[in-house]
Amino acid sequence: MPISAAEPLLEVGGLSSGYGKIVVLHGIDLTIGPGEVVALLGPNGAGKTTLLRAVSGLLPWSGRVRFAGRDLFGASARDTVQAGLAHVIEGHRVFTQLAVQDNLLLAAYDLRRHERAARVEEALELFPEIAGKRHERAAALSGGQQQILAVAQGLVRRPRLLMLDEPSAGLSPILVDRVLVVVQRLRKAGTAVLLVEQLIEKALALADRVYALARGSIVLEARTSEADLPTRLEHAYLATAKH
Ligand SMILES: Nc1ncnc2c1ncn2[C@@H]1O[C@H](COP(=O)(O)OP(=O)(O)O)[C@@H](O)[C@H]1O
Ligand SMILES: [Mg+2]
Repeated sequence: MPISAAEPLLEVGGLSSGYGKIVVLHGIDLTIGPGEVVALLGPNGAGKTTLLRAVSGLLPWSGRVRFAGRDLFGASARDTVQAGLAHVIEGHRVFTQLAVQDNLLLAAYDLRRHERAARVEEALELFPEIAGKRHERAAALSGGQQQILAVAQGLVRRPRLLMLDEPSAGLSPILVDRVLVVVQRLRKAGTAVLLVEQLIEKALALADRVYALARGSIVLEARTSEADLPTRLEHAYLATAKH
């Protein structure tokens, strides 16, 4: 079903989630427009990863999640992927014993053969860093290249929203920039991105809007073009540190 320009691509309302009896997220409201790049910031343990897991169907939640005009209540991880939502989990996990190309084929396993091959070529064209190593095992890639491969795996299905969980973690500054350049390419291609990052300035430079999460609640929502954003972010962080 096509969605109107006025309707967000992702709409999260009053979402609560956690692990068994441990409630981590308390009534999260968050939206992402079609093609929008949104940064999700917050200290360690704030619940960023938990939010991504809930939205992508890896954790049960209560509240409301609509994506591309669909209600995702009760949707499994497979359902959300098929709806066009890709989640690149923390820690650039790839199959190190498989060739780069096979990692990509695996990510597109349920597409038809010709389409699968075409999508893998498309992903490799987007990332020359790994295209030259398509026949090598992923173990031969650097950390940054493995992260790029993890992103490419998320993209072979042409998602409408890509959620990246700390893609720069553990990478050297040069590799961080190579990985984050990917976000710019996606924006140009019209793919929406939800970017979880510890590198605040880099995330703000890429994003249209930002949310800050602390102790399982959204404490700030702003456009990155707002002049007083650094001060507001600082206050949001300080206020949460005091509690
Ligand atoms: N598997 C789990 N079981 C129980 N508690 C968890 C689990 N994973 C994370 N938590 C808790 O949930 C909270 C939020 O964690 P997380 O979403 O990973 O935060 P962030 O990604 O912002 O660093 C933390 O208090 C963390 O200890
Ligand atoms: Mg996390």
